[in-house]
Amino acid sequence: MKLMSTPHLFHFLLFCATQTLGVRIQSDSVVGSEGLIQIELEGTVSLLCLSDGNSETEPDEDLVWLRNGAMVSLMAENKKNGSRVCVTPVLQEDNAATFTCHLSSNASISDSVTLNVTYPPPIMGAEELVVEEESVLVLQCDILANPQVSSLVWTVNGSTVDLLTGGFTLTNDGVRSQLIANSVDRSLHAASYRCLANSPLYGEFEKNFQVTVTDKLMKFPLMPIIAGLVVVCLTAILAVVARWRKIRQCCK
Ligand SMILES: *[C@@H]1O[C@H](CO)[C@@H](O)[C@H](O)[C@H]1NC(C)=O
Ligand SMILES: *[C@@H]1O[C@H](CO)[C@@H](O)[C@H](O)[C@H]1NC(C)=O
Ligand SMILES: *[C@@H]1O[C@H](CO)[C@@H](O)[C@H](O)[C@H]1NC(C)=O
Repeated sequence: MKLMSTPHLFHFLLFCATQTLGVRIQSDSVVGSEGLIQIELEGTVSLLCLSDGNSETEPDEDLVWLRNGAMVSLMAENKKNGSRVCVTPVLQEDNAATFTCHLSSNASISDSVTLNVTYPPPIMGAEELVVEEESVLVLQCDILANPQVSSLVWTVNGSTVDLLTGGFTLTNDGVRSQLIANSVDRSLHAASYRCLANSPLYGEFEKNFQVTVTDKLMKFPLMPIIAGLVVVCLTAILAVVARWRKIRQCCK
């Protein structure tokens, strides 16, 4: 084994002071209280499970890894004298995943760590929307983040949106926030919008929207128009045919 760096040695010693039996998990990442490892999305977590090797447990005993209770398949040579698993890249679904290592002979001799996968809300950029009068306007900001955003504000032309006078409804299901106007009115809704979120870990995020309102398009009743055109054309053709007969008759 390579020489351990000082912080690892410190953790190691701390661990030995608090627990004397069994297996333990070491990581390059900081293991916080209650075995929580904070890791950024798309990062890498490397975990090493060691059995204590004291005389009470068998030397060279096989180790088993579980992820949320399901067995992780390991190469045969990765089961003894320290077994390593690596999570890379760390995904959103690894958040709150618990990795447990235990002796294959006794599952109660175990150690666990749980991942806390942090990521910022995907709020950025600018969007231009063109909507007709009286149509529905939906502005959306995706706010899923860990930790959750601590605040979310919608502004219109720089001031906080007044839902009542603006004729807006606001929805927020923890994944996305939508500002909705059910019947667009140019004087109320043609404007610059912004959603502003604050992440306790990653700071401020914003997305801008430029909304242009156009006149309501006349919806032509298409079928009657086509029927009318067909009648007009047929009449014209019949008229020409009738005339042609007359011309032919007088030429005889
Ligand atoms: C497993 O380990 C626990 C804790 O050391 C011990 O109490 C128990 O008897 C062991 N079980 C077996 C089957 O060895
Ligand atoms: C995960 O880490 C973030 C950032 O430090 C923290 O705010 C959050 O409470 C942690 N989550 C859990 C479940 O501990
Ligand atoms: C927002 O500002 C634009 C440009 O100054 C203006 O045309 C529009 O009427 C304003 N909209 C609202 C809702 O204040």
